[in-house]
Amino acid sequence: MKIKTADFETSASSLDTCPAPTLPELAFIGRSNVGKSSLINMLSGRRGQLAKVSSTPGKTRLINFFQIDGLWRLVDLPGYGYAKLSKKTRDIFRDFVTEYLTQRENLLGVLVLIDSRIPPQELDLDYITWLGEVEVPFALVFTKADKLSKSATEKTVKKFFTALAERIEGQPDYFITSSKDGTGKSELLGYIGENLWGN
Ligand code: GTP
Ligand code: MG
Repeated sequence: MKIKTADFETSASSLDTCPAPTLPELAFIGRSNVGKSSLINMLSGRRGQLAKVSSTPGKTRLINFFQIDGLWRLVDLPGYGYAKLSKKTRDIFRDFVTEYLTQRENLLGVLVLIDSRIPPQELDLDYITWLGEVEVPFALVFTKADKLSKSATEKTVKKFFTALAERIEGQPDYFITSSKDGTGKSELLGYIGENLWGN
């Protein structure tokens, strides 16, 4: 699959202000600074333009909708685990994202982004476990693979799945990516295409 056009559509701060649920949506979530916006730019081929890449973590505080080829939407969810925000602000984001993930009727699935440079984090493991519990389909995307050697990345992935196996059954689909050098782009787009249109 190839993305021909990608356009920012709107931002929403509550379920009511999300665009009409007319197109299938694929959401991206992960800890703040994990590389969600960069991945969206990489996939859409509009590096550095479409989704705002943070110089300070936690910039994405709204749900951002991008319309792809006029046929589906890529959805950039606010990063979780941004410690510098007040608890109240974090709670508001969390409730909104929870509502979006559990109530959005046109949500096809979620890509959970994981930083491939760091050991398994409780926050990521908890989030994935929760997605399983609420039965939201998901796949994992290990980001920033350009920062490590191939074997070091594979080691982190292995460690992550060992930790995850203590919590959930089965191994989710996963991808290793770099928004910097394009690693994993065609694999991930192929997967997205299969899940959106079954081809
Ligand atoms: P929030 O919106 O704040 O939650 O962050 P985000 O998850 O959208 O991350 P963003 O794409 O803004 O990237 C955060 C930082 O990581 C930026 O400095 C990016 O340039 C850097 N970054 C993202 N992806 C990659 C990657 O694949 N490789 C490298 N080397 N750096 C990356
Ligand atoms: Mg972002």
